[in-house]
Amino acid sequence: MAHLISASILNADFSNLKKEIDLINVSRTDWFHLDIMDGVFVPNISFGFPIIEQVKKYAQKPLDVHLMIIEPDKYIEQFKAAGADILTVHYEACPHLHRTIQNIKAHGMKAGVSLNPHTPVSVLEDIIQDLDLVLIMTVNPGFGGQKFISNSYNKISRLKKLIIDKKSTAVIEVDGGVDLSNTRMLVDAGVDVLVVGSFIFKSDNPTTTIDALKNA
Ligand code: DX5
Ligand code: ZN
Repeated sequence: MAHLISASILNADFSNLKKEIDLINVSRTDWFHLDIMDGVFVPNISFGFPIIEQVKKYAQKPLDVHLMIIEPDKYIEQFKAAGADILTVHYEACPHLHRTIQNIKAHGMKAGVSLNPHTPVSVLEDIIQDLDLVLIMTVNPGFGGQKFISNSYNKISRLKKLIIDKKSTAVIEVDGGVDLSNTRMLVDAGVDVLVVGSFIFKSDNPTTTIDALKNA
């Protein structure tokens, strides 16, 4: 399939949120990426349910919600109610990952698991068949605008092999430091969905930047 772009609004202008949402709506972006940080799992706090609800009100594309929080199980129902279509939890934050994934699916959402840069792909061997999406962090989670970690290419190749070997239908998403310099190589390595934040929202013309990312 042609690669998808999930626009991370973390670095969008929140004083003009409606304008930023409209920009994404009319662009060739495929999903909205929403980063939820609790100040415990990651050293930063972002936003919560009220913002998700506002985005949902105007978004014409699926909401891809990335939870960087401990104990996500407590809030699965609330994320569904706020408008999440895809809900991704961190492997490192879920001691009972299988239960968490089943719970997300039972609430009618697609279920994803994210791996921090130091977490090997092999930890997913016995869960990959249950996943709709695997999110490989290509920076340490917590902030936009960080430098892409180049070991990620090896991880993507290993994940692609695991998905094929286990006949999983999971898509591969990457998040952090994605721009025009690495998009083509990531897609060639097997990436289906690219999360892009600051490269879109800090560019002079986000719409043409998105076109370039889609055409890469
Ligand atoms: C980082 C977040 C990312 C972030 C990506 O913890 O998960 O989604 O917004 O931002 P860029 O594209 O600027 O690296
Ligand atoms: Zn993210």
